[in-house]
Amino acid sequence: MTTPRTLEGIVDKIGIGLLGYGTVGSGVGKLLKTNAEDIALATGRPVELRRVLELPGFSHPDLDPALVTDDFDDIIEDPEIDVVIELIGGTGAARDFQLRALRAGKHVVTANKQLLSQHGAELLETAERNGVHLRFEASAVGAVPIIKVLRESLVAAEVETIFGIVNGTTNYMLSAMTETGADYADVLAEAQRLGYAEADPSDDVGGKDAAAKMAIMASIAFHSRVTLGDVAYEGVTRVTALDIAHGRRLGYVCKLLGVARLIDGAVNVRVYPAFIPAAHPLAGVSGAYNAVFLESEAFDKIMLYGPGAGSVPTASAVIGDVISVVNTAKGSFTRNCLCYKDLPFFPSEDVLSRFYLRVRVSDQPGVLARVAAVFGDEGVSIRSMVQEGSGAAADLVFLLHPAREAHLFSALERLRALDEVEGEPGVIRIED
Ligand SMILES: NC(=O)c1ccc[n+]([C@@H]2O[C@H](COP(=O)([O-])OP(=O)(O)OC[C@H]3O[C@@H](n4cnc5c(N)ncnc54)[C@H](OP(=O)(O)O)[C@@H]3O)[C@@H](O)[C@H]2O)c1
Repeated sequence: MTTPRTLEGIVDKIGIGLLGYGTVGSGVGKLLKTNAEDIALATGRPVELRRVLELPGFSHPDLDPALVTDDFDDIIEDPEIDVVIELIGGTGAARDFQLRALRAGKHVVTANKQLLSQHGAELLETAERNGVHLRFEASAVGAVPIIKVLRESLVAAEVETIFGIVNGTTNYMLSAMTETGADYADVLAEAQRLGYAEADPSDDVGGKDAAAKMAIMASIAFHSRVTLGDVAYEGVTRVTALDIAHGRRLGYVCKLLGVARLIDGAVNVRVYPAFIPAAHPLAGVSGAYNAVFLESEAFDKIMLYGPGAGSVPTASAVIGDVISVVNTAKGSFTRNCLCYKDLPFFPSEDVLSRFYLRVRVSDQPGVLARVAAVFGDEGVSIRSMVQEGSGAAADLVFLLHPAREAHLFSALERLRALDEVEGEPGVIRIED
């Protein structure tokens, strides 16, 4: 049989119920309209948007008002709806709608990282029990097809590390701080003005958005459940233009990194600002772009790079998921839930890390010896030190050898208590 080149004879439709017509939902509506023919020819089945759930009073210039409902029953009770796409976000109504759709025998596609990273096990097991699919490609790194790569392409390769830039807002902000020397608050205000940061930016700047994505990716890569609560995360709120500038002189660029590692068979997943060498491929990932490295003995390194958010880029990943369930309704390449191991977690305080540490001190005789003595007592050894500035106040900038994080943080506590130390020291991990 040859591949059809026209829509003639392609009639067996896939019905879609779309929940939420906001940034991503309207992108899905747009792509379903403009790419309808390609989707039908590629899958052999036309995809039809049958209903859109929105809050009462909603209207959108590109959307037929007859499709809009504020009653979820209209979606769940429509036998012609095969796939429910949840794009309202949050962990309340979205969870309830997803569970009801799965129990009603409908496939679910979502971009909801917070829901997946907190209630993934419950949702995936419900999908499995009901013989339907739950797909969530767009929940981690937007348009970049990392979930499919981990779930399918690399299912037999033991991925040991996932490492990358998974939040576009903070990447834009750190890039701007590096390029202009502006401080955090000014760059945040500019990012909000340009639409790169939301009115309430706390999930992005506090690291929670990146942590949710890392939990989802780590669960699939390590085949062991990682929830948002298992991820230790810090954001960029304490990164200063001063530390970025010192790091730059030492050959580093500052990035908010998501890092998931298998250490001695245990899982450690974290998000933190880190200095990486200016020549590292991630250093060139700037603005709202994302990039993720996967490492494994099987393939050494793979890097995936692309837009991590945005209406149409994210919608393209959502539609990719719809297409991937269209013809696999009766069984698929892998199961919904791939967490068939129950690995322990590796405590973050025992991780060996390298650090940049800046201490502002009053320029008094003997101050360097007192700072060095604290490091010595705590078993933290110094690789190099430079003094920036002189007179009443100077910055001592240390690069430290790998140390147990617990030791470094206890040294930091003691440094804060020294009379000669002024203000809050700058502490940034170094990843090579
Ligand atoms: N935006 C991105 O670039 C991006 C990227 C990756 C993943 N995501 C994820 O995609 C999902 C959607 O994000 P978004 O940016 O498209 O959000 P959004 O622009 O706020 O859109 C959500 C839409 O759903 C509506 N809504 C909220 N609660 C509802 C309910 N109970 N019933 C019916 N409609 C409801 C909202 O109406 P109101 O506006 O009136 O509240 C809004 O129109 C989230 O899980 C997000 O994390 C987004």
